[in-house]
Amino acid sequence: MPVTPSGPIGMFDSGFGGLTVARAVIDLLPNEDIVYVGDTGRYPYGPRPAGEVREFAREIAWSLVDDHGAKAVVVACNTAAAVAFDQLREELPVPVISVIEPGARALSIATRSGRVGVIGTVGTISSGAYQRALGAVGRSLDLTATACPGFVEFVERGQTSGDEVMLLAERLLAPVVAAGVDSLLLGCTHYPYLSRVISEVMGPGVVLVSSADETAFALAQLMRDASLGAHPARTGTHTFLSSGDVEWFADLGRRLLGPELMQAGRWSKN
Ligand code: DGL
Repeated sequence: MPVTPSGPIGMFDSGFGGLTVARAVIDLLPNEDIVYVGDTGRYPYGPRPAGEVREFAREIAWSLVDDHGAKAVVVACNTAAAVAFDQLREELPVPVISVIEPGARALSIATRSGRVGVIGTVGTISSGAYQRALGAVGRSLDLTATACPGFVEFVERGQTSGDEVMLLAERLLAPVVAAGVDSLLLGCTHYPYLSRVISEVMGPGVVLVSSADETAFALAQLMRDASLGAHPARTGTHTFLSSGDVEWFADLGRRLLGPELMQAGRWSKN
């Protein structure tokens, strides 16, 4: 089937995290239809073997194209992008965008001292994807990358503040605090929901960089370059699907994303 401007933009994450990217895309491209899949039935991706995450990513990306007619796919999950982006870009018949390159670019622009940090899941950090992406930005940076196991689980429970999450943040962020970074990339799309806690631990002098806005800008550019943008006068529709508890996805998702997430449907692999 030919790729046409009338199809939706497909997006996916292991759960609620990619809603940070969906929010930015809805704000920047209000005329576009979006179909979002949160794989909450199989989250978290971070501790899983790379091959398993790659298969999950392929299942969802292909379903967005085959079942929903997606004209482009946004991998709104760093862990999935770190292990599956190259393969998705090669095999899917539509353009694919990941959060990693836009995030790396934004971090390289934000830093003054060149001393930067990246935090993400165990899968993302151990893949070396950010080390490679930052190596390609054309500026020499002193990088401290550290995994934050447990952060995603707090967000998925809707617990984004309080003593427990603060204690964990103090322990996990110690390496980037000690490194004296001036900018910290939230290299997991769940982490912007913890930005108050992270910011309190890092201190007021450290800029927190999220890849959501930069990814939305890259998507808008792609829509223009590939002549895939929807008609500017129309209003986009937003469809949210979950492989887990659909009621919970709608309830917490609405609190995190906003009123566009009125209801959620079920996603399952064919
Ligand atoms: N939002 C995903 C990411 O950006 C979280 C992965 C997970 O489920 O552990 O990496």
